[in-house]
Amino acid sequence: MAASESPRFFPPLPPRWSATGADAPDACWQLALECGGDGVWDWNLLDSKVFCGPRFNALLGYDDGGFGDDADAFVKHVHPDDLGRLRQRLSVHFDNECTPFSCDLRMRNVDYSYRWMQVRGQLVERSADGEPARIIGTLHDINQWRHDEAVLKEQLAATVRLNQQLEGAQVQLVQSEKLAAIGQLAAGVAHELKTPIGFVSTNFGTLERNVDDMLALIAAYHEAASSPDPANALQAAEARYVAADIDFLREDLPALFAESRDGFDRVQRIVRDLKDFSRVGEQDWQFADLHRGLDSTINILRYEIKHKADVVLEYGELPEVWCVPSMINQVFLNLLANAAQAIEKKGTITVATGVEDGKVLIRVTDTGCGIQPDILDRIFTPFFTTKAAGKGTGLGLSLAQEIIRKHRGRLSATSVPGQGSTFTIELPLSELQPLAAQPDATSDTSKPGDPGTNT
Ligand SMILES: Nc1ncnc2c1ncn2[C@@H]1O[C@H](COP(=O)(O)OP(=O)(O)OP(=O)(O)O)[C@@H](O)[C@H]1O
Ligand SMILES: [Mg+2]
Repeated sequence: MAASESPRFFPPLPPRWSATGADAPDACWQLALECGGDGVWDWNLLDSKVFCGPRFNALLGYDDGGFGDDADAFVKHVHPDDLGRLRQRLSVHFDNECTPFSCDLRMRNVDYSYRWMQVRGQLVERSADGEPARIIGTLHDINQWRHDEAVLKEQLAATVRLNQQLEGAQVQLVQSEKLAAIGQLAAGVAHELKTPIGFVSTNFGTLERNVDDMLALIAAYHEAASSPDPANALQAAEARYVAADIDFLREDLPALFAESRDGFDRVQRIVRDLKDFSRVGEQDWQFADLHRGLDSTINILRYEIKHKADVVLEYGELPEVWCVPSMINQVFLNLLANAAQAIEKKGTITVATGVEDGKVLIRVTDTGCGIQPDILDRIFTPFFTTKAAGKGTGLGLSLAQEIIRKHRGRLSATSVPGQGSTFTIELPLSELQPLAAQPDATSDTSKPGDPGTNT
């Protein structure tokens, strides 16, 4: 049975579009489709004849009819690597004509170069025994689109690579800032360690002498007990007892031990603070107690600044916060170090924490020199510093801001020149966990017209 006589499952279409243009409706169909820039084709699967419209021919560089008129010509023009995909898509469509047929593939031009095309079609007839009999469709040139897509993909991959490098560089920067900070703080920490180690070592000397005396005393009594002349030997032992001043030792030894234990505790505390501050190996997102981070950072810094600034803690209730603790500690250190450096002789640094409007707030306020309004908007710029060469790199605040941005928070500053400055960290509580893994975004919530405020 001819294809045109087979059962139809689509509204009757005109017979094959005719290249002769004799049939008016055929010409209209073809014209309408080709007006959109697409080529049209009509493939009789029973006799393998394919009609390709003029636009189809033109898209591949052929004069009208030059492409050929059979399925073989079609197959020969498809890039060998794409032929398998074309067959597979056709077969899926023939199994169920409700699944649209669409296949992106490379087709050969008249000049033997390949162009990306999108071939779409629809089975419109089956033979009496149910075999696919006729499929019609369009050819759409997607070469430029494919090329642009490839360029975009390459650019995206380059951006992703760059981002990864930047992230790596940032982690290194945090680490080197931290090392630099620890280096600067080392003097204070060393001094702090020197005092307890000094008195524990003096106490050890005393204890050594006391133990020697007591061992000698025990030996003297032991000798007296086994001596042929016990009275004489006991007298010698008694003389040693008096010389050892045991009554004094009875009072002094517990004090020596208590003092030494206190010294060990102080050393242990300093070591714990250093370890807590550096949070070695904790580069990962996790829930952390920010007060613990603040405490260890303040303690490390306190050794350096205790003669210059009193640190007042006004801690509120804080839930654990989803963050990278070592990075957040770096922010605390940068703000506290700036606060201490802003105080010339003697002042106060107040650290206040709390939760407001679903955000964790940490405020570091100092009674230092303050910041002139004309530079307030530049302090977060990388390498901006008012400190003497060799004293400041100007990276502390820009790095701190970057870290807070990564945590989807905000870092802002207010200042009154001559009176002091306040730096406020805001971390959005509820959003933190799900958004932490996403690329940074800053929600700048500064109120327009806020005097002396900068983020
Ligand atoms: N608490 C503060 N009080 C006054 N000025 C401040 C304060 N914090 C920052 N600044 C100003 O902002 C500038 C930039 O600070 P930032 O921490 O970025 O760099 P820095 O402290 O100069 O150098 P470093 O890289 O060592 O931190 C400082 O040079 C200073 O002028
Ligand atoms: Mg600084």
